[in-house]
Amino acid sequence: MWWLARGEDSIPAGSSWLAPAEAERVAGLRFTKRRTEYLLRRLVAKHAVAAAADLPAEPAALRRIDVRNAPDGAPYVLVDGAPAGLHVSISDRAGWAVCLVGTAIVGCDLELVEPRTPGFVRDFLTADEQRYLTVVADRDAAANLLWSAKESALKVLHTGLRRDTRGVEVTVHDGQPGGWAPLSISTGEGTTFSGWWRRDGRFMLTVVGKAAGPPPRALEDPDVLTAAVPAHSWLDQPLSRRCL
Ligand SMILES: CC(C)(COP(=O)(O)OP(=O)(O)OC[C@H]1O[C@@H](n2cnc3c(N)ncnc32)[C@H](O)[C@@H]1OP(=O)(O)O)[C@@H](O)C(=O)NCCC(=O)NCCS
Repeated sequence: MWWLARGEDSIPAGSSWLAPAEAERVAGLRFTKRRTEYLLRRLVAKHAVAAAADLPAEPAALRRIDVRNAPDGAPYVLVDGAPAGLHVSISDRAGWAVCLVGTAIVGCDLELVEPRTPGFVRDFLTADEQRYLTVVADRDAAANLLWSAKESALKVLHTGLRRDTRGVEVTVHDGQPGGWAPLSISTGEGTTFSGWWRRDGRFMLTVVGKAAGPPPRALEDPDVLTAAVPAHSWLDQPLSRRCL
């Protein structure tokens, strides 16, 4: 399993790098935030697939890689119209996106480390997770880690937030800043998933696999998120230029 991150500054101009179905989807996105996030998720996924499958990554070649969504929202990849034989999971937050790619089913989630309200903790975390927050040194980091791991697990399960977030419980194991540390997730059905987390600068990244495996390997610089600056560029122009 490999991972890759991209910032929104890397999004190419124009739409020649998009597969026809992707370009059609973008054309229907009126709001800059949704449009930019969609493009950024496509870019990071295409670059990750190109690197993992040893395909060229210039804009015209990226068009061959089509990152689609199943009816439940889960992503899947076609290359030249045929299944790529690779699983991906994609997540974006504050102008940055991450893609996990490999041959096993995986979920990933990128979060900003930011304050979470007592109401959020009460409504979305289990009693044991809430207790964990009372003993950690950095409550905000831990709350975002728990939330991110839940989202990763719910992506593996393909339910997303249709499922109660308290129906999966996260156990965090200690780690070093800038590296991967283990975590585990138990579901109400008695299944346990293994995963990994890392804190880089302002960001928290989690990965959960259907099967246990080693930590993901970076396709490029593993420290890219350490100095990444969160961006909210869409605030300057909430409506896409195409809609003005
Ligand atoms: C999956 C979900 C938790 C991700 O939410 P998020 O934190 O806002 O967004 P992220 O950037 O981390 O992830 C987005 C990506 O998750 C993936 N995803 C969406 N639904 C998924 C699912 N059911 N299973 C696995 N992955 C999923 C997609 O790849 C999506 O990016 P894409 O649409 O560009 O392909 C959320 O979208 C969700 O719960 N969806 C299901 C519920 C739903 O459909 N609600 C309708 C909202 S209008």
